[in-house]
Amino acid sequence: MRKFFIYFTPILICYAVGILSWYIQSDALVEWYPTIIKSPLTPPPIVFTIAWSIIYILMGLSLGTMLVRGDVSMLKLWIFQLLLNFLWSVLFFALRSPLLGFICILTLDVAVFTYIILTIGRRPAAGWLFAPYFLWLLFATYLNGYTYSHYKPTNPAATMNNSTITSQFVLPALAYDTSAFGTALSKESFDYHYGKHFKAYIDNTNRLIVGTPYASMGLEDIVKSSEGALLNNSAQALNHRIYFEGLTPTPKGIPKELQQRIIDTFGSTENFVQQFTDTATSLFGSGWVWLAEDKDGNLLIISTKDADNPIRHNLNPLMCIDVWEHAYYIDYRNRRADFAKSYINLIDWDKAQARSNF
Ligand SMILES: [Fe+2]
Repeated sequence: MRKFFIYFTPILICYAVGILSWYIQSDALVEWYPTIIKSPLTPPPIVFTIAWSIIYILMGLSLGTMLVRGDVSMLKLWIFQLLLNFLWSVLFFALRSPLLGFICILTLDVAVFTYIILTIGRRPAAGWLFAPYFLWLLFATYLNGYTYSHYKPTNPAATMNNSTITSQFVLPALAYDTSAFGTALSKESFDYHYGKHFKAYIDNTNRLIVGTPYASMGLEDIVKSSEGALLNNSAQALNHRIYFEGLTPTPKGIPKELQQRIIDTFGSTENFVQQFTDTATSLFGSGWVWLAEDKDGNLLIISTKDADNPIRHNLNPLMCIDVWEHAYYIDYRNRRADFAKSYINLIDWDKAQARSNF
């Protein structure tokens, strides 16, 4: 029992620091992810979550292995690296400083490497248990460095100061109860996708436009004319507005005029559905699939990468499906095709028709 307690306590401490760090990181990750995923070495987000859990368990076990044998010589160094780990989250993510974060994580690299070398000399098992953390740390160092060299905030002063957030754009209220979709889209999924991801894109957009000419522009004009972080966040705010507005728990049929256009273009409604869901399933990585119309009223199915929106290609979006993993992972795990097939039955086609210029 005492042994179990000695193993369990360090794991619990690691987890507490990990969860707190993750909480601090969540907003910045949403803002930076489009930058980070351009790095050729970035895995899908789920890999981070799984690796995070395994690594923290191994870190706790490493110290537990030392302590259970009565060796407390590495305790101070272990706590020091855990504090540095937390400090890195604060500097890099909460204070949005890739430079200070990079300095901190380099110090952490040295501390962890020292811990491993000293521990392997005393208790090899404990040292090797800590090694995966060091590998993860090297990768985090690379990501921090990559963000430092590639991320260019549109308005650095505004991104550093939360008190300057304006309320120009607000999270639009949903026209339906988020529990009304049953297992097709759960309330928990809405809580995260709508309540956290969509909200973060709006908050980030508001933060980035402070003191810039964009502060007096509408969302679509910002999406058409911005670049970098502001483009990523404003486009994601617009994409999610179209996505959530276009859902309904009580779908009706496609309005006659739109249905005829769909049949004229795709041969039949069934062909359209098949083509749309196939495109959603086969899109590599994160992005969106749209039913859009060109300036002559021709319909087309297009996919866009990351935050891109059809209005940047002179097309008018009528409806869309979000195929970022965060849109379906809670309810469908990795089954994107099942999500697409379910989703197509939850479209509010009246909204799609209302968005059309024809
Ligand atoms: Fe999304």
